[in-house]
Amino acid sequence: MPVHAPEGGFWPAPEIPQPNIFPIEWRVETGSLAEIYEKSKRALWNPADLPWGQLDPEQYTHEQKLGVMYWWSVLANFDASGPAVFARATIHAFEQHEEDPIRKCFFAIARDEMNHEEVCRRAIQGIWPGGPLDWTPKSELERAAHNNIGWLYHNGGRYWNGYSTSLGKYPLAVMFTSFMMGEVASSTLFRGMADNAQNPVFKEAFTRIGRDESRHLQICMTILDKDWPGLTDENKALITKQLRAGFVFLSMILWEPPGQFWDLPPYFLDNHRVLMAHAREAGLGVLDYGRQAENWKKAIAYVRRIVERWGIEFPAIPELDLDGVDVGDIDVEDIIPVF
Ligand SMILES: [Fe+2]
Ligand SMILES: [Fe+2]
Repeated sequence: MPVHAPEGGFWPAPEIPQPNIFPIEWRVETGSLAEIYEKSKRALWNPADLPWGQLDPEQYTHEQKLGVMYWWSVLANFDASGPAVFARATIHAFEQHEEDPIRKCFFAIARDEMNHEEVCRRAIQGIWPGGPLDWTPKSELERAAHNNIGWLYHNGGRYWNGYSTSLGKYPLAVMFTSFMMGEVASSTLFRGMADNAQNPVFKEAFTRIGRDESRHLQICMTILDKDWPGLTDENKALITKQLRAGFVFLSMILWEPPGQFWDLPPYFLDNHRVLMAHAREAGLGVLDYGRQAENWKKAIAYVRRIVERWGIEFPAIPELDLDGVDVGDIDVEDIIPVF
């Protein structure tokens, strides 16, 4: 049967106002990203299959249980925000008609982060029913832990608000430099903890999560290699500030937070140290203050070498004796980095 060909030609469909996820297309510019997406599908693992039976809360003292739950609750401020953060970034990438492998890689990261979030849930609730916040503290130490977690999530909430309203405010290369810093931080953290953890289920979890984070880092680096050469000076300056923001934000889990951005009560840090000491004593694999600083410094030096290759100045991080550009105070709207 012949098609209906209108006299005077076909009527062009109306142009779709952008940003929009339509029209559907699958543009590929970066083949290596498509390969990483394939790899990430094959590397998928199931957190439910970890040997959770070996997480017997009774192997820990009461303080240690609280400390371990507290550490995972601090981690959750970062790792458990991953699914929503990358899900939103995935939608954003579709609306902006980023090339297909970028959208796919965002989705793959969201998928992985859902596993990391699940591990946080299983670890916290396996050791402390009702954790992180749905339980009633009965001692001074418990009240301190519960209150600190409440304050942490208050800050997580501020970060989420800033992030979700700022999507689209920054070009991809700026966002990805922040993501890259987050992935360097997380792969460093989990590698260190996998080496040190005594409980086999935690060791396994850290190893697997660390592997995912290294793949996320690879995704970031591939995108940046492509996007960095076109950076304007203005965007370079933005990145310099973002790198400092990454340090400020991520130090909460990698080391200790500096004063900027974090809105915390004056007793927070003292109690944080007490709780972290209990987690450390439980053999969770939390490095001591000095080794954390050393690791964090090494990770940041790595980021610095990468960005300086592209003529991006590095911010001063006097907390770790790293000199660089003074970018002023970091506020909530400067924070993008995720795990
Ligand atoms: Fe993660
Ligand atoms: Fe990640």
